[in-house]
Amino acid sequence: MKKILITGGAGYIGSTLCTELVKLGHIVTVLDIMKYNTDSLSHLYFFDNFNLIRGDARNRKIMKKLISKNEFIIPLAGLVGAPLCEKYKKDAITTNYFAVKLIKSLIKKKNKIIYMTSNSGYGVGEKNKYCDENSPLKPISLYGRTKCDAEEEIKKLKNSVSFRLATVFGCSYRMRSDLLVNNFVYRAVTKKKLDIFEPKFRRNFIHVKDVVKGIIFSIDNFNKIKSNVYNLGLSSANITKLMLAKKIKKQHSITKIKIIKNKKDPDKRDYFVSNKKIEKKGFKAKISLEKGIKELLLYFKNSSEKIVNNY
Ligand SMILES: NC(=O)c1ccc[n+]([C@@H]2O[C@H](COP(=O)([O-])OP(=O)(O)OC[C@H]3O[C@@H](n4cnc5c(N)ncnc54)[C@H](O)[C@@H]3O)[C@@H](O)[C@H]2O)c1
Repeated sequence: MKKILITGGAGYIGSTLCTELVKLGHIVTVLDIMKYNTDSLSHLYFFDNFNLIRGDARNRKIMKKLISKNEFIIPLAGLVGAPLCEKYKKDAITTNYFAVKLIKSLIKKKNKIIYMTSNSGYGVGEKNKYCDENSPLKPISLYGRTKCDAEEEIKKLKNSVSFRLATVFGCSYRMRSDLLVNNFVYRAVTKKKLDIFEPKFRRNFIHVKDVVKGIIFSIDNFNKIKSNVYNLGLSSANITKLMLAKKIKKQHSITKIKIIKNKKDPDKRDYFVSNKKIEKKGFKAKISLEKGIKELLLYFKNSSEKIVNNY
């Protein structure tokens, strides 16, 4: 049983992560400003091994106290996504980068950090080549830059693991419909059509439950995998936007796919990613896109939840 601090734990990844960690009996503390959803963790309030503090991960006094009381620190607090960071530049830098530097300045020997960054740092990958952890990072947005800068800081710590995440999909207790797979399914259900720019742009994906399993694997095998950076994605889900749209149409046949020519996607990410390094250590993401699409179709067809998106 571990003592675990999760900043931003009320978010999309955090709310599913906390649920699993609490179930496993870990002692979980969340620090979150609850920017989007004030109910994403309410199902955990009952449990004695769960605690929620509504507060800011940039606050030195709060962080000092919480870090001293916990062994594992999982910093998820952030302004997530390129459009949001463009809109609130200062908050993006202070939350995504300075708050991570703050953790670095406060940790003690006993602390272990598990950091989630984005594989968007790979920017535009080379044709027919998979990006691995040694591929150059050339972020193309402020979001990508803040995440790469924070990863650089974390990398200097021996007791750290960083995961470069693929684009996450699936249902969580705080829902997002701005992530690519979630968004395509949302549009297929509500508009019955998918207008796609730059259909051949490539991306890698991973289900939110697989992200959580990867984090739990890293807690259980920390000494085996520490002092390293790993890509974390579903290896069979290295596909183009058009291939993704076709998978959705297969399960939701009324979807009309329309390719919009001569219009650029502001999101320029285009790469395939190799996840072999973490797979060799013993963790492999397994939940298929098909399964996630089925789940998301049911969600968007039936939910009356009002989603507050990041952008
Ligand atoms: N979802 C993805 O596809 C993805 C991919 C790669 C990396 N990540 C990383 O994973 C982490 C979590 O992402 P997510 O999808 O759960 O995002 P999210 O937006 O759902 O969650 C972020 C959480 O941080 C909280 N927060 C924001 N500013 C804060 C502050 N100053 N102090 C405390 N809490 C604050 C918000 O209230 C929110 O609950 C982020 O660091 C993100 O960069 C996510």
